[in-house]
Amino acid sequence: MSTTQTNKFEIIKASTSKINEVDFENLSFGSVFTDHLLECDYTNGQWQKPVIKPYAPFLLDPSVRVFHYGQAIFEGMKAYKDDDEALWLFRPDENYKRFNNSAVRMAMPEVPEEVFIEGLNQLLQLDEAWVKKGKGNTLYIRPFMIATGTGVIASPSNDYKFMIILSPAKSYYSGEVKVLIAEHYSRAANGGIGAAKAAGNYGAQFYPTSLANKEGFQQVIWTDDATHTKLEEAGTMNVFFRINDTLLTAPVSERILDGITRKSLIDIAEKEGIDVQIRPVLVSELVEASKNGTLKEIFGAGTAAVVNPIVGFSYQDVYYELPKTEDSMALRLKDMLTNIQHKLAEDTFGWTVKV
Ligand code: COI
Repeated sequence: MSTTQTNKFEIIKASTSKINEVDFENLSFGSVFTDHLLECDYTNGQWQKPVIKPYAPFLLDPSVRVFHYGQAIFEGMKAYKDDDEALWLFRPDENYKRFNNSAVRMAMPEVPEEVFIEGLNQLLQLDEAWVKKGKGNTLYIRPFMIATGTGVIASPSNDYKFMIILSPAKSYYSGEVKVLIAEHYSRAANGGIGAAKAAGNYGAQFYPTSLANKEGFQQVIWTDDATHTKLEEAGTMNVFFRINDTLLTAPVSERILDGITRKSLIDIAEKEGIDVQIRPVLVSELVEASKNGTLKEIFGAGTAAVVNPIVGFSYQDVYYELPKTEDSMALRLKDMLTNIQHKLAEDTFGWTVKV
């Protein structure tokens, strides 16, 4: 191991790399991590010097607040390599902003830009060999923060740990995705933490999603908690519906995550002249459109999942299969988005940022 100190970071390089042990063609999402991570502790009311060091487990006191009160937030981002081996991020400023919004909602300290953005850049430069070029190859970036203050008193922690870990990734879902529309369980409620990328939002979905999995559905589309009549968000993605040639998606709210893939697709679609309607979408509207043949596509959109076509949905024990389409809007938009991300198309939006 070798250590370098700059005035902003301490960098401890691993003496060996695990990269040759990794089968980059057969990656199971989020299961392999690169050689290094970034760690920055918040103690005595301030952020300490960030350290980039070899990826390894760490010890925590059993009473730290994250275990008891779930003060934990995260982000999902990706890095891409272009054909010239240059490394790119996609709208990192949006992830940074959303992370700090989540922090505020969970009574956690905001992370300074030089820790999150500059730290990420330093980390990526060190582990750049883990990003493979070619469409479909990405490096999934998981920044997260946990409460590390000890004591089980139910109040915000004084101490926190911010980390960034990196995982080479191909696709999130393999095979067809069928969804169940929620009739009883909810993802979030008004006034709650649905708009934050809080760990608990995801953990709370595991049980109802496992019930859906047992019935053969990969995901749940959550409906609004008050009436269960409006279609909101799927477990790991925002959702879009194509009725005839109109693209519909729910507006972001206190219950729905402001997805970066979601808003990028809306901008691309609008630029393409597609009629995009951002408004509450009713379950009854979807069922009706499926029955009268105007429902053409449903797809999910998220950083991990990118754009994922959904082949059918179930509601009140009736399964509605979507028609096969030759001109998939989902795949067209996915292609346009990933071409921008991999620098295969001109980025007229100014979304890509070189590492
Ligand atoms: C992402 O798409 O990056 C997410 O954070 C969803 C995650 C639960 C895989």
